[in-house]
Amino acid sequence: MRVTINEIKEMKSKQEKIVMLTAYDYSTAKLVDEAGIPLILVGDSLGMVMLGYESTIPVTMDEMIHHTKAVVRGTKQALVIGDMPFMTYHTSISDALRNAARFIQEGGAQAVKLEGGVTVAETVKRIVECGIPVMGHIGLTPQSIHQLGGHKVQGKTPEAAERLLKDARALEQAGAFAVVLELVPAPLSKLITQKLSIPTIGIGAGLECDGQIQVISDLLGLFSDFVPKHAKQYAKLAGLIKTALADYIAEVKAGKFPTTEHSSTINESLLEELARA
Ligand code: KIV
Repeated sequence: MRVTINEIKEMKSKQEKIVMLTAYDYSTAKLVDEAGIPLILVGDSLGMVMLGYESTIPVTMDEMIHHTKAVVRGTKQALVIGDMPFMTYHTSISDALRNAARFIQEGGAQAVKLEGGVTVAETVKRIVECGIPVMGHIGLTPQSIHQLGGHKVQGKTPEAAERLLKDARALEQAGAFAVVLELVPAPLSKLITQKLSIPTIGIGAGLECDGQIQVISDLLGLFSDFVPKHAKQYAKLAGLIKTALADYIAEVKAGKFPTTEHSSTINESLLEELARA
């Protein structure tokens, strides 16, 4: 049985911290699920860490669905959330509904996430009314990176802080079950967390959020193009992989791999017969 949005909301009332992580493929999602992480986001960050794009902007619905299906196949317990890509929920509410439905019907996800506050509140409301749970995402919203002018901490002026609080409230009123706060000053995240009845999930938003999310490639030290300030590397897999690859190359070149342990054989007389033919 998968985790439900009600269980996630209850975690806030019980003051139980919520752990969330991204995953993009079957094998990794299986490990994340088996570790007991209740919320998995198939983030559009896959554009950078899986597909080598410079930002999340080129990511398409088809790419998201492809990866969501793999993550869903790898999981039994986690609630899987599909991240709606750039411009898939802005053009009209019916486009947003159609694309959100694709995550659930084709992808097998249990919820969707989208970026924005007041401006997307009506869209969130309609998606929720149609039975699809929605997670909001405010603060630094990477799909608006050109408008925001870079990966900067948001909500630093009184007006910007007030706007963020309004955005958070608009999402709550629209029926979102949780909201991601990205690159928000810790004291402001604390205030938003106190004001909302739904959980806040922080990334670069301090300790006082109801939960935390990280990009798995950052957390495992797999993605070395850049390491965001808010990311902590709990492992350095890139180094381990490089060592393993160097060992593999050396053993193949030296004729040390494969050994009999990694090979199979056939009957000697059959081999002799084949050699004579
Ligand atoms: O795409 C993503 O991975 C995200 C998280 C960083 C919240 O949106």
